[in-house]
Amino acid sequence: AGDDEDVRKRALTIATEAAEAAGEPLRELHGQVETITVKTDKSDLVTEADHQADRIITTVIRNEFPDHRILSEEGPPWDHSTDSAPESPADDDRPPVAADGYTWVVDPLDGTGNFAHGNPNYSVSIALLEEGEPVVGVVYVPETDEVFSAIAGREARRNGDPIETTDRDRLRESMLISGYDPDGSFLSQFYQKSRGVRRLGSAALNLCYLASGSADATWEHDTHPWDVAAGLVIARAAGATITDERGEPFELTLADDGRAALLGSNGPLHPALLEHLEAGRRANDDSDSSPPSSDQG
Ligand code: IPD
Ligand code: CA
Ligand code: CA
Ligand code: CA
Repeated sequence: AGDDEDVRKRALTIATEAAEAAGEPLRELHGQVETITVKTDKSDLVTEADHQADRIITTVIRNEFPDHRILSEEGPPWDHSTDSAPESPADDDRPPVAADGYTWVVDPLDGTGNFAHGNPNYSVSIALLEEGEPVVGVVYVPETDEVFSAIAGREARRNGDPIETTDRDRLRESMLISGYDPDGSFLSQFYQKSRGVRRLGSAALNLCYLASGSADATWEHDTHPWDVAAGLVIARAAGATITDERGEPFELTLADDGRAALLGSNGPLHPALLEHLEAGRRANDDSDSSPPSSDQG
């Protein structure tokens, strides 16, 4: 256990170093990327900046922890023995990731859409997993030079200062963030019931806003592990409650294209949020089940 503790502390330092180093080219290229490549659909983008950041982070981690696995959104499918990784792997090409030992989960640029359009809301997200459990998280915001970080079971920090979630318990006085929400159902359900629902564009950063109290809850319909692994450690350490859309414990899925819904809140708001989500699902099911059609034509 003492060894694990030591690895976690070193990992926090290295993750911070790697994230800050990756922030430099991101700041330089922000608003002036030349090529935006569309991956799977019109909003799924990657730029040369994502790749530069990925190479910097991978190099820093590998130098310090050569035996650890690295799973990066833009990294090579799995074999890290070579340095050349010009292509971002498709989800289908990713072998499943074993959960034993130490695995780094990296999103070199979270919020590529914002980044490519010159919006400052983007981040670098780096987490260390121990036996599949995220235990160290660092989220760096290049444009504001903010470092959010935590080791599981300890305080969450922003630029070294402790942060915590709010204790607001009334939905109508709370500020919510929606992440990916394909049918807009979170927005339409909660917009009138709360003080507002924001759609900001970096899942990792959304969790840090929850952790530091500038939002009371955040919702993401689908997450990849690299979007949320670091933010999860930070938000939990700051006192957040994190579940799936039904209130079950949120599980980080490393399997192939593992995707999971995430509801994060300050805690007091969680029951009301879950209740409304459930009511929304019921209303949806009712309207989906059209009256039985008659056999006689
Ligand atoms: C995206 C951002 C966005 C979330 C999407 C992610 P990317 O990550 O985190 O906020 O809603 O689901 O894919 O592609 O910019 O790293
Ligand atoms: Ca992406
Ligand atoms: Ca992401
Ligand atoms: Ca990304």
